[in-house]
Amino acid sequence: MKTILYYFSGTGNTLMLARLLAEELGDTEIINIAGCNDSTPDRKADAIGILYPVYACGLPKMMCDFVKNNLAVKADTYVFSLTNYASFGGPASLHQLKDVLRSRDRKLHAGFGLSMPPNDIMICGAESQEKQTKHFSEAAAGIKTIAQTIRERPENYFYHKGRIPLFLAWLCYKFFFWYCTREFKKFYVNNNCISCGICVKICPTENIKLVNERPVWGKNCEQCLACLQWCPAVAIHRKGIPETRSHYHNPTVKAQDLIKDMQR
Ligand SMILES: Cc1cc2nc3c(=O)[nH]c(=O)nc-3n(C[C@H](O)[C@H](O)[C@H](O)COP(=O)(O)O)c2cc1C
Ligand code: SF4
Ligand code: SF4
Repeated sequence: MKTILYYFSGTGNTLMLARLLAEELGDTEIINIAGCNDSTPDRKADAIGILYPVYACGLPKMMCDFVKNNLAVKADTYVFSLTNYASFGGPASLHQLKDVLRSRDRKLHAGFGLSMPPNDIMICGAESQEKQTKHFSEAAAGIKTIAQTIRERPENYFYHKGRIPLFLAWLCYKFFFWYCTREFKKFYVNNNCISCGICVKICPTENIKLVNERPVWGKNCEQCLACLQWCPAVAIHRKGIPETRSHYHNPTVKAQDLIKDMQR
């Protein structure tokens, strides 16, 4: 019973969950959707999992486009999703995913959600170590239950924690896209930069170039914060956010893990 987990991740939380779930399910392939075009695959799986962080109560655009245009999924494949978020918006994002799959005449059979440490530096810095440890141990326990449910193949299983009215979620998501089209201008790099190029390699949309050994951002930004959160010199910041605000990336994942998983 082979499973493929397709994931999108900025700061590694989603990859951590993919790894834990793969371990529980066995015979599982993990694929980073950055650069992935699976429209004519020879990949075969009995089940497909779609894993992503919630962005503004919805799907990251890259995941939405991937499911709409590239994901190869046969009519009889079992499809589930595992989303993660700091506090809310999981059910609304699953609703969006259901609609996207329905537009391709495919079904989302089950949807799960887990809370993970926040990575959105616009709102807050990294959690304390204690809180992170609590998040990770709760998520590890949650994954065991989720894996058991997936094995049972329910046809219509959806969790509801962190639910907010769909209209509010939709407004929040629309605002986010408006914001994304402006906010790429707000990253900047300070003198700590060591010109290592990690920000260039880790950007899932290839939106960064080094010019005179310093990163320069284009317009195709998901706001995943990978560039900012993985910079080893903590040199990338956002206008309006204090440079002292602590950065976060998942401690069980390395930048290289995300980079080598990319399908480029
Ligand atoms: C642009 C952006 C939007 C986010 N929106 C939400 C949200 O609506 N609700 C929430 O609870 N967390 C939100 N988060 C937090 C992430 O979903 C959460 O930290 C997730 O675990 C990050 O996963 P990753 O490490 O795989 O990128 C947001 C994060 C970012 C960067
Ligand atoms: S990751 Fe940081 S140190 Fe490396 S090139 Fe980018 S900004 Fe500079
Ligand atoms: S520029 Fe930074 S925040 Fe935007 S998509 Fe690339 S890595 Fe993510």
